[in-house]
Amino acid sequence: YYIPEPSNEPVLSYAPGTDEREALQQAVKEARKHEADIPMYIGSEEVRTGNKIKMSPPYDHQHTLGYFHEGDASHVQQAIDAALAAKQQWEDLSWEHRASIFLKAADLIAGPYRAKINAATMLAQSKNAFQAEIDAACELIDFLRFNAAFMQEIYMDQPESSPGVWNRMEYRPLEGFVFAITPFNFTAISGNLPAAPALMGNTVVWKPNYSQVYSAQVIMEVFKEAGLPDGVINLIYVDGPVAGDVIFKHPDFAGLHFTGSTKVFKHLWKTIGENIDLYKSYPRIVGETGGKDFVIAHKSANAQEVATGLVRGAFEFQGQKCSAASRAYIPSNLWEEVKELIGKDLKDISMGSPEDFSNFVNAVIDQNAFKKIAGYIDQAKQDADVEVLFGGNYDDSVGYFIEPTVLLAKDPHYTTMEEEIFGPVLTVYVYDEDKFEETLELVDSTSPYALTGAVFSKDRYAVELATRKLRNAAGNFYINDKPTGAVVGQQPFGGARGSGTNDKAGAGINLLRWVSARTIKETL
Ligand code: ALA
Repeated sequence: YYIPEPSNEPVLSYAPGTDEREALQQAVKEARKHEADIPMYIGSEEVRTGNKIKMSPPYDHQHTLGYFHEGDASHVQQAIDAALAAKQQWEDLSWEHRASIFLKAADLIAGPYRAKINAATMLAQSKNAFQAEIDAACELIDFLRFNAAFMQEIYMDQPESSPGVWNRMEYRPLEGFVFAITPFNFTAISGNLPAAPALMGNTVVWKPNYSQVYSAQVIMEVFKEAGLPDGVINLIYVDGPVAGDVIFKHPDFAGLHFTGSTKVFKHLWKTIGENIDLYKSYPRIVGETGGKDFVIAHKSANAQEVATGLVRGAFEFQGQKCSAASRAYIPSNLWEEVKELIGKDLKDISMGSPEDFSNFVNAVIDQNAFKKIAGYIDQAKQDADVEVLFGGNYDDSVGYFIEPTVLLAKDPHYTTMEEEIFGPVLTVYVYDEDKFEETLELVDSTSPYALTGAVFSKDRYAVELATRKLRNAAGNFYINDKPTGAVVGQQPFGGARGSGTNDKAGAGINLLRWVSARTIKETL
């Protein structure tokens, strides 16, 4: 590598007595002391509209984290203008300088901002310290460092020349601006969605989910401190349809970088299609959407590995990962043992505020999520096709707490085997241990999604069969591991079918979507 060679940021342990634990506890305490007043960042301006939206920790309704200033259509227009005004200078800057800024941002997060960004993710998104560390610190750092290396590989990928002819590829940024719409559930994804197109020379309008504004602001602060010029990334808080109405009618709209629900993504795709005649170029549409991620165990699997994979895969961060295990297919010979082990694990799990580091399970993100998840659980309590095996209780008096819940479905097409819940609910279907191949077909045909999935087996023929039969059922396929926790640079992440365009976050494939190559032939 010509640029510093990337390696994955080591995950800190936060064990009792460590410096990192002390620093994080201090940062949480500090953040709780002051009410934040968060502006939008448009060009060189910090914009405070006075239309203030309150932020509270999902696990503590009584506390106010602060307020952010919501904008309207005029701010969307201003953000587009700022992005277009900054564009020429930014794309003329040589790529080493763009890389330097984002590498510096990675170092700032690894060092002085680590506690702050993790604390923000704990407080506003209700992630425990360990989940915050792998997301807001390590994964975001990895995205920034690895993408710089992938960018170099792209620029170095050049065609053959011949005697008297020099052929070149110029990886130009898109002509126009990119719109990044980011989710609440990963601070790293939220940072990467505007950063990846910006790294490739584009300028960006960034609209985060309202539940994640608190940590998005920290990311913006880091980018600014790292030297990101004004207008390259413009951070706005505007209602989705209001923003869309301005963005998708603009002739310079050049690309959408999206993570969120399948329903919204399809709606945006249609809107873009309807407006296609307005645009100078065909916009790039990159989206990572829903999942209904499976775990299938073969009769040869180790029951403890299956149980651990299910509990971690389904319940870390309250199941609010698009990759979370949410439907499991367990063979009859293993079921009693797996069930007992899941029960044992769940008994040891405590639920509560992430500020107490011993709580594995915290609150779900907001009232809408709470109601939706509780609705599925209530329905399951009434339906004859399904049994509530573990959990099933919920309480929103202090925060939006829902117990890790395991359902046993008699019907493999029961609603919770098919629909994305985005919460701590796992549904298990027990299949005849001799019907592995038929069950693989069931796994493949049951859900419209294809994001992640896992097979547990000690039998190599079964592993091969599952890998082949489930070829299109998951963009990230795990053998003897939980289906969550993809690491940048190691397991490029993304799925197809209803789960997205599969442009693999944290890979050169993604960065290629943010350039439009010009081929140059020069006769010497
Ligand atoms: N990239 C995240 C994971 O793999 C969603 O769990």
